[in-house]
Amino acid sequence: MVHWSSLAALALAMPLVVQAIQAEQQLAVLNKKKNTLDHAHKLLSHYPLIDTHNDLPMSLAFDFKGKINNMNLTELDWGHTDITRIREGQLSGQFWSVYYDCEDTKSNQILKAMESIDVTKRMVNLYPETFQLATNTRQFQRAIRHGRVASMMGIEGGQMIDSSMVALRQFFELGVRYMTLTHNCHTPWAESCCDPNPPPFDKGLGLTEFGKKIILEMNRLGMMVDISHVAHATMHAVLDVTRAPVLFSHSSSHALCPIERNVPDSVLKRLDETDGVVMINFYNNFVQCDDKKEATLFDVADHVEYIASIAGRHRVGLGADYNGIERTPEGLEDVRKYPNLFAELIHRGWSDEDLIGLAGKNLLRVWKKVERISSEISEKELPSEERLEEYL
Ligand SMILES: *[C@@H]1O[C@H](CO)[C@@H](O)[C@H](O)[C@H]1NC(C)=O
Ligand SMILES: [Zn+2]
Repeated sequence: MVHWSSLAALALAMPLVVQAIQAEQQLAVLNKKKNTLDHAHKLLSHYPLIDTHNDLPMSLAFDFKGKINNMNLTELDWGHTDITRIREGQLSGQFWSVYYDCEDTKSNQILKAMESIDVTKRMVNLYPETFQLATNTRQFQRAIRHGRVASMMGIEGGQMIDSSMVALRQFFELGVRYMTLTHNCHTPWAESCCDPNPPPFDKGLGLTEFGKKIILEMNRLGMMVDISHVAHATMHAVLDVTRAPVLFSHSSSHALCPIERNVPDSVLKRLDETDGVVMINFYNNFVQCDDKKEATLFDVADHVEYIASIAGRHRVGLGADYNGIERTPEGLEDVRKYPNLFAELIHRGWSDEDLIGLAGKNLLRVWKKVERISSEISEKELPSEERLEEYL
C-alpha cells in the first residue's frame, strides 16, 4: 500500500536524486580526466618528450633582429614558447627550426640561415641551466640526464644551401641535423608541395639527378632527410634513393585532410622500407580542413591515431610547429599543453610503450639509425664533389 504523501515526497526528492547521480557521473569523468593527465605527467617525467619543429629562432633572428641579450626568455608575452612554458609542458628535447622565406630571392639565404643558427646557439649559451646543445644521440642523452632541454637544429628549406654540397656539409659542421628538402618553393633539384610562383620543374619528377646526389650526401653525413613540405612525388623519389630512414619533421595526414602538404597513405605504407617516422603537425589548417570548424586537441589525436593505424604506432611523434603557426588548436594552445595530448591518447587506450614511442623513442630510433648508417658509409665513401652546373 502506498501513501500519497510518501509518493509526493519521492516526487519532490527525485530531482535531487537525479542531480546527485549526475554530479557523481561528472565527478567520475573529471577524476578519470585527472587520472589520465596525472598518468601523462608521470610518464613524461621519466621518458623524453621531443618535438622536431619549433620556429622560435625565426622570431628571435628576424622579428627581434637577433637582439636577445636583454630579452628575458623565462617568460615571453608573445608566441607559444618560453622557458616557463617549456618546463610546464615537460618538453625535454627540441629541434629548433632554421627557417627563412624561400620567396625572398633577393636575400642571401645562406646568411639568413646563419642568423638563425647563431641566435639558437646564443640562446642555449645564455640559459645553460635550461638548454644544452646536442648534435648526436649521445649528447642528447647527456643533456636530458642533466635535466636540460636538449637543443638540436634543422634547416627548413633546401634553398638555404644554394644547391651547394659545400654549404650542406658546412651546415652539418655547424650542428644542423636535418634538412627539409624544400619549403613552399621548388629548389633547382627538388619539388615542393606548394610553390606559389613555380619556376619550371618537371611536375611529378620529385627529385632531379642532382637532387638524388644531395640525398646520398645527407645519408653519408648523417643529416636526416626531412620530407615535410615536399611534393608527394618528391616523397616517393626520396624513398627510392635514400639509404637511411626518412623524417617528416612536421606533417599530418592527407587522408584526413587532403592538402598536398600532408602525408598520403601511399607514402605512409612505404615507411617500413627505411624505418621512417612522421612527426605530427598541430596546425589548425592541417588537422581540421573544414573552415567552419575550429581545430581541437581531438583533431590532432585523430591524426596521430590515423597515421599510426597505417604506418604503425612506432612511426609517429610530434612536430607541433609552435611559433611557426598563427593559430593553435583548442587544448594545445602552446608548449605547456603537450601532456593533454598524451592524456587523450591514454583515454583512447594507448599503452605506456606506445606513448613512450610517440614522445621521443621513435624519433631517437630513427636518429640513431641515421648515425649508424652514416658511419658505415663514411668508411667507404668520400665527400661528394658534385656541382649543380654539371647537371644543367
Ligand atoms: C626573468 O624573469 C623571471 C620571471 O619572469 C625572473 O624571475 C628573473 O629574475 C628574470 N631575469 C632577469 C635577468 O631579469
Ligand atoms: Zn613548415
